Amino acid sequence: TFSSPPKIIIAGAPASGKGTQCEIIKARYNVVHLSTGDMLRAAVAAGSEVGKKAKAQMEAGELVSDEVIIGVVKERLAQQDCRERGWLLDGFPRTRAQADALASAGITCDSFVFLKVPDEILVERVVGRRTDPETGKIYHLKFSPPPTEEIERRLTHRADDTEEKVKVRLKAFHENVNSISSCYTAVMFEVKGDQHKKNVEEIIVGHLDTLFKRNQETVDAS
Ligand code: AP5
Repeated sequence: TFSSPPKIIIAGAPASGKGTQCEIIKARYNVVHLSTGDMLRAAVAAGSEVGKKAKAQMEAGELVSDEVIIGVVKERLAQQDCRERGWLLDGFPRTRAQADALASAGITCDSFVFLKVPDEILVERVVGRRTDPETGKIYHLKFSPPPTEEIERRLTHRADDTEEKVKVRLKAFHENVNSISSCYTAVMFEVKGDQHKKNVEEIIVGHLDTLFKRNQETVDAS
């Protein structure tokens, strides 16, 4: 019941909780969730051309080249499901060149949700993060433990989720963040991400509900 399909960008440092919040947002608004990290990990696992180009940089915790990732994202956003249902872009844009590429393709968003978490908390989140390869669900050994032993046994740990690699990832984040957020000041929604994930969820959902209902009312009134 939206006037036009929602277009949302979620941003934040590594392990700030983007993937965790995306699980709720995509279910509530029925948007297509596009995580560039997940897309690249799938490309690496499949051994595709993009995967071959991305593999070494991802393992080192470095950003994949703009050329490689911009093409992948633009192509994906042009597909029918994204045009019909709207999208939730997670992990892109990560450089000014990526933000500029979206702008020059005429791609704008309704909200830029920015999760803010201090660096020292992020390291602990990264080291304890685990993923369920069957459902894609994200857990944390301390903050969000798996519900059963069966799930716990099959959990995987990302190769770039070490203290050493997260420092490289954080450096790239801090080098780029201001030049990206300055492109989105008109739609910026900052959230304190170092609180319980349910609180973060409530704040984001409150904001998005208001935003999209307001748009709907505007359409109804005209
Ligand atoms: P990507 O997969 O995007 O990694 P990231 O940005 O580093 O983000 P993460 O997936 O680490 O964290 P998240 O914010 O989703 O946190 P999560 O919800 O899991 O990118 C990986 C790599 O791909 C990059 O390094 C790069 O090489 C490449 N890449 C991707 N996009 C690119 C691009 N655009 N350009 C170039 N290269 C690109 O939460 C983390 C942990 O914390 C979990 O264990 C979770 O359970 C826990 N947690 C979450 N919320 C809370 C809370 N509120 N309280 C306590 N714990 C919490």
